[in-house]
Amino acid sequence: MGAMKVTIRNDADEAARHVAEQLADHLTNMPATILGLATGETMRPVYGHLRKLIPERQVPTGAFTSFNLDEFIGVPNTHPGSFHAFMARELFSHIADAQGRCFLPDGLADNLAAEAARYEAEIAARGGIELQLLGIGRNGHIGFNEPGTPFDSRTAPVQLSRQTQQAMQGFDAERPQMAITMGIGTIMQARRCLLLATGAAKAAAVSAMLEAPPSTACPASALQAHPDTTVVLDRHAASRLAGY
Ligand code: GLP
Repeated sequence: MGAMKVTIRNDADEAARHVAEQLADHLTNMPATILGLATGETMRPVYGHLRKLIPERQVPTGAFTSFNLDEFIGVPNTHPGSFHAFMARELFSHIADAQGRCFLPDGLADNLAAEAARYEAEIAARGGIELQLLGIGRNGHIGFNEPGTPFDSRTAPVQLSRQTQQAMQGFDAERPQMAITMGIGTIMQARRCLLLATGAAKAAAVSAMLEAPPSTACPASALQAHPDTTVVLDRHAASRLAGY
């Protein structure tokens, strides 16, 4: 199994730019690819750079399909804190004909377990994810797979930890307590993963992901067994690594 590759850049913007360039190159090489996309503050500058690279490098954006990792349960798509709204703002509204090929789980579905199973089946039916973009939570979560989640979990409705609820952006008072997320097992099936972590608040999670034995205490450490994962860090997120 394939030791994760680590790339360290000087600051958060350079790290995000590097990830955006990887995405742009991937789309150029494989325009009809299936992407797995991520949300969160860390990803905002990635999409910012990608929006600039698309016209600059004439990156083909007319043929890809994408599946986002997760969405809150019970939050309308029009709510600015929803991941639907985040993706529309950051990327999908800047791409022609994104509707119908850029998907997120439906956190408003009547039957959430059925929606999660449908989403999982839809990814598989389209041949699986080629390139999965990932962030990491301060507690090591990927998608919304919190510590303790089995490494073979599939897409499902999940409870968010208190820490994750506190770190949440875009909500004033009522913070969502649940989400639908791709499972760790779902993420592990992506052919290639690209994980970005920036800032000192992620340093402990990054160290547990890369340098501790794999453990469900740090969901991202499952990626140690993934055959093709690259972790992109800034100096601060890398500051607690012994081996770099
Ligand atoms: C979330 C997402 C994750 C993300 C993480 C870190 O809300 N479900 O996919 O990686 O938390 O977010 P941020 O980049 O805002 O620190």
